[in-house]
This record gives sequence, C-alpha cells and structure tokens, in this order.
Amino acid sequence: MLRFLAFLSLFLLPVTSELLDNVSFSSPFTETDRNGQYMVPNFMMAGDADVKKTFVRLTPDRQSKRGTLWSKGVVGPYSEISATLTFRISGQGSKLFGDGIALWLTKSPRPTNGKLHGMDSKFEGIAVVIDTFKNVEHGSLHRDVTLLINDGTKDAEIGVEDVLGCNVDGMRYHEGRDDFSTFNLSRLRLLYNEDRLVVEVDGNGTNDWQTCATVGGLKKQLPKGFLSDARFGISGTTGQLADNHDIISLQVHSSHSEAKVASVEQHESFESADDLQVLVHDLEHQLTSIVEKLENTIGKLQNQEDMLEDRVKLLESTVLTGVESKMERRITNLEKQLDRKVQRTVNKAQKSTQDEIDNMKEFAEKNADSGGWRLPFMFLAVLVFVAGTAAYRHYRYLIKSHLL
Ligand SMILES: *[C@@H]1O[C@H](CO)[C@@H](O)[C@H](O)[C@H]1NC(C)=O
Ligand SMILES: *[C@@H]1O[C@H](CO)[C@@H](O)[C@H](O)[C@H]1NC(C)=O
Ligand SMILES: *[C@@H]1O[C@H](CO)[C@@H](O)[C@H](O)[C@H]1NC(C)=O
Repeated sequence: MLRFLAFLSLFLLPVTSELLDNVSFSSPFTETDRNGQYMVPNFMMAGDADVKKTFVRLTPDRQSKRGTLWSKGVVGPYSEISATLTFRISGQGSKLFGDGIALWLTKSPRPTNGKLHGMDSKFEGIAVVIDTFKNVEHGSLHRDVTLLINDGTKDAEIGVEDVLGCNVDGMRYHEGRDDFSTFNLSRLRLLYNEDRLVVEVDGNGTNDWQTCATVGGLKKQLPKGFLSDARFGISGTTGQLADNHDIISLQVHSSHSEAKVASVEQHESFESADDLQVLVHDLEHQLTSIVEKLENTIGKLQNQEDMLEDRVKLLESTVLTGVESKMERRITNLEKQLDRKVQRTVNKAQKSTQDEIDNMKEFAEKNADSGGWRLPFMFLAVLVFVAGTAAYRHYRYLIKSHLL
C-alpha cells in the first residue's frame, strides 16, 4: 500500500523543480574534447581556464591571468530559479592575493573581455563579484561580495559607490597552512524570483548561509522575459596579485526550495566524501600546481635561451661584417701595392726593352747598307711588348681570382 502511494505520488505531486542542464555542471568531469582534454559539457572555456578532473581552474596562482566558463545554452522560460556556485579561492600568498571570481547572469552570449572582472562594464543582467583584494583606495566602500544589476546602459564599477553586497569571513584559503585541504570550499547562492533577488554566501563551505544582499524591483531594471535568453558565466581574474580560482560546480534549479535541499545534500556529500575521492582531488590539486610551476620555469628558461641565441647571432653577424670589411680593405691595399710593383716592373721592362730596341735601331742605322736587318727586328720588338702586356694582364687576373 505504501509503495503504491509512493508510486501514485509520483504522478500526483506537481514536478516543482529540476536541475537545468543547459546551465549546470559539476565535477568530476569525465568527458574529453577532440584533443583529449577534460571539458565541461554545455559550457565554453576561454582564456587561461583549464578543466581538471575534479575542478576547473579559471586562473593559476600567477599574475595577469583571466579565465572564463560560459554556458552555451540559455536558462529558459522560468520565473523562479536558484543558482549555487561551489568554488575554492586559494593560494600561496598569506596577506597579498587577488582579484577574485564573478558570477554572471547576462544576455551576452560570451564574455566580452572588459575591465570589470573579465566583462564589459556595460553588461546587461546580473553580476555577483567576489573581490578578495581589499583595495585601500576603495576604503569602506569595499565589499567582499558585490551585487550589480545593469540594463546595459550604465558603466558598472565596483568600490566607487555604496553598493549592494557584504563582507564575509572566510572565502579565501591560504595554501601554506598545515590544515589547508582541497575541501576548503565556499559557496554562493542566487535566489531569483521574478522581481526579487537574494544573494547568500556560505564562506567556509560549512552550510552556514548568510544573506548578503537583497534587491527588489528587478522587472523594472531587466528586460521582459530576461531569463528566457540569459546565460550563466563565471570569470576569474588575477592582476598584480594572484590566487588559484577553482570552480567545483554550478547548479541551477528551477525552484528555491529544491535548491536548499540540494545545498544540504551537497554539503553532506563533502563531509562524507570517501578517502579515495579526497585523495584524487588532493593529488590533482597539488600536481596541477607543480606542473604549472614547472611549465612556468621551463617557459622562462626557453625565453632566456632564445634571448641568448639572438645575442649570439647578433655578435656573430657583427664580428663577421667587421672581419669581412677588414679583409676587403686589406685585399684592396695588397692589390694596390702589387699593382704598383707590377707596374714598376713592367715599366722597367718596357724601358729596358725600349733601350734595347733603340740600341738595336742605332746599330741597324749604323749598318744601313745591310738594310735587311731592320724590318724583322722591329717586328720582334713589337712581339715582345705584346707578350709582356698579355703576361701582365694574366698576372692581374690571377691575383684577383685568388685573393677575392
Ligand atoms: C538550452 O539552450 C538552447 C540553446 O540556447 C535552447 O534552445 C533550449 O531551449 C535550452 N533548453 C532548455 C531546457 O531551456
Ligand atoms: C570561517 O573560518 C574562518 C577561519 O577558521 C573563521 O574566522 C570565520 O569566522 C568562519 N566564517 C564563518 C562564517 O563561519
Ligand atoms: C580547511 O579544511 C580543514 C580540513 O577539513 C579544516 O580543518 C580547516 O579548518 C579548514 N580551514 C578553514 C580556514 O576553514
């Protein structure tokens, strides 16, 4: 009978809630993409985001990083939804760390790469910014959690005016502590109901929820049917200061009561996680940091090697050009010297040949009666001169072809 009633209740009770798959995900991730990398089903990744088996690392604990996860599909035609984000912000810094994580519910199909935690400040929709860096310039206007609602026309800024939000004890963990564990998580929850939005936080992941901000009159600020084509996005950023910004899950339900039940269940599952689960998560967390550090060091070494190579190349070319021009100058000098010497020798030879010819001429004139000498002798003299010139030319050619 009881069973029958239970069976009946399945049909009689209205289906009040469901997990909205289009905009939800949770670790462990098992599906891989074409390149064999873990992926988050139904979500796009961009920037430095990296999907591990047990978490998504939006940014490593390193300066100037930005990673995003954006739902490919839309929320759908609901009037009430709740979204629970489970994340871990942790790092090596004990006092200096930043910048944080932002949860977006916007009409933007993708992150727009702006200055506001990875988005354009003129976004259309809702943003909850978790800002771990306490900017001293913002003074008392700083909020650990800030709620922003924008119709796409205003330039949203944080820390410049009294905004909706709250400060939270916890929400950021120092990895240098001996009691640091990968189960040091935090949670953020949005309860959205047509005209009203409540933001709650569970800073230490202990299921102690604190109401952080409440806002009404949403219908006036957001377009009609906003949720029908709104998407969820998560962005993590680091600047001068850094942290690991890890996301464990985003679960969007179509009713608040169901979300609260799910939150309790989620917390119980953290508490009762078996040793193997804890070990896998822990190991992956540690390995990811080690690999990231190694890659960074290798990258630096590679850079240095490239720079060294460039410098050697520059040096080589400077030396080579120097040597080349010096050689050229010396060869030109040598050529000139040789030229002069050869010219002198040839001149001497020419002169002595001429003298010889003159002597001969004199001799021939003296013996004019025996005129038969003269013609053949002149012929011979010209021949000697031509041969001398040719030899000289050949000599020049040899010098050139051997020295240059
Ligand atoms: C999921 O997203 C797609 C694409 O935006 C949309 O067509 C579809 O209706 C969504 N599914 C649900 C259940 O709302
Ligand atoms: C979270 O933990 C920190 C450190 O143990 C503690 O100071 C803080 O009060 C806790 N926050 C809440 C909301 O319990
Ligand atoms: C982190 O988790 C460990 C183990 O669960 C716990 O002992 C410790 O108090 C947590 N740290 C903070 C700051 O909540």
